[in-house]
Amino acid sequence: MNQRTTLKINDNGQLEIGGITCEKLAHDYGTPLYVMDQAYIEDMCSIFRDTLKQEYGDGIIAYASKAFCCKSIYKIINKMNIGADAVSGGELYTVYKAGFPMSKIIFHGNNKTYSELKLALELDVGYIVIDAYSEADQLDELCSKFGKKQKVLIRVNPGVEAHTHHFIQTAKIDSKFGFSIISGEAESIVNYVKNKPNLSLEGLHCHIGSQIFEEKSFSLAVEKMTDFYQKLKEHFNIEFNVLNLGGGFGIWYSDGDKAKTCDEYASYIKIITKSLNDCIQKKGLKKPFLILEPGRSIVGEAGITLYTAGRIKRIDGVKDYIAIDGGMFENPRFALYQAKYTVVAPNKMNLPNDKIYSIAGKCCESGDIIAENCNLPEINEGDLIAVLSTGAYNYSMASNYNRNLIPPVIMVKNGQANYAVKPQSYEDLIRNDI
Ligand code: LLP
Repeated sequence: MNQRTTLKINDNGQLEIGGITCEKLAHDYGTPLYVMDQAYIEDMCSIFRDTLKQEYGDGIIAYASKAFCCKSIYKIINKMNIGADAVSGGELYTVYKAGFPMSKIIFHGNNKTYSELKLALELDVGYIVIDAYSEADQLDELCSKFGKKQKVLIRVNPGVEAHTHHFIQTAKIDSKFGFSIISGEAESIVNYVKNKPNLSLEGLHCHIGSQIFEEKSFSLAVEKMTDFYQKLKEHFNIEFNVLNLGGGFGIWYSDGDKAKTCDEYASYIKIITKSLNDCIQKKGLKKPFLILEPGRSIVGEAGITLYTAGRIKRIDGVKDYIAIDGGMFENPRFALYQAKYTVVAPNKMNLPNDKIYSIAGKCCESGDIIAENCNLPEINEGDLIAVLSTGAYNYSMASNYNRNLIPPVIMVKNGQANYAVKPQSYEDLIRNDI
């Protein structure tokens, strides 16, 4: 377990988050329950923000909304003075309703609809990231109707293959995202967008994948992007003001991952800014405003999910299952990516982990597993179970599969707990049914 002051085993051998025991949280709010450690989120925001400022200067951390999106996260990150990205009308609407400054929003998507583009213009977002010729046409036309000039970036594919699960690699040659630099497509779209009268092309964006530990991947992306900036400068006299390098920093989930303190996560920013400082100097480039879009690394380790153990199924000589009151409807990451998690028993933290269990969800399908072969103490029905590092891509990927209710989200800080997202009711499930 990656312990810290706000997530630790207390003197009574109980797991505590944000100064409250998991037992009290489960008692007060029920299970399943997403719990988010606000102090951790704030620390990550300030460490990333300050490291970017110190090591590079002009730039912004734009939190990747897709990791965890609800109104309260925008209140927190706004207070921490960082920006955010959005990838759908729904994320745009949420961030707007949270009262976030829309000039600090970067709007992405490989297939933004006409109405989403229109909404982005109405809400006055900072940047829109173009990912298709026809999108540039449509946006240019819309801007002319709105009588405005929109700042845009173009998503390019630098051809860096990051070492992570293949479903979440996005910058290989075969990718639905971005224009390839290697094939020459990136060059063509730059020249195309440059000539759009209502679009102001400020720079380029890339995102090489997610849950990447290999720091070399990030410096390689910087190398490729600045090579391309240099080429555009020399061949077309185009010099950009902005460079957006996306997110993707790997975090601790389980034993195989390096456990880092918040401060140590700054190394990702340092590697990127160092490569970029070196490259712009070596290649004689104008220093671009740097945008970085970490999502998982800001909220991932902040979150834990609490469950109550239900039926225990022992299959002699095969395996022991603990069925929990959650499942793939609130954490689909094992089913989708065979993602690994650390599972603990919050009320039995000082007991030896001398049993092995697999944690199964309550959905009607065999693939509904949360974690396999977890070392735990003896678990009985009614015991509390916690899965760690669930702050990113859990709530945001939740569904009502099997008409299970999406659990509420609680923010905890300094011994106080508050709802970030209220519980759903059965009535919510049928609200739009005709
Ligand atoms: N910027 C862009 C354009 C992205 O596509 C992403 C993630 C990010 C930033 C943030 O990446 P992060 O720092 O969170 O790694 N559902 C998958 C993750 C998909 C990430 C897609 N894009 C999962 O649960 O692992």
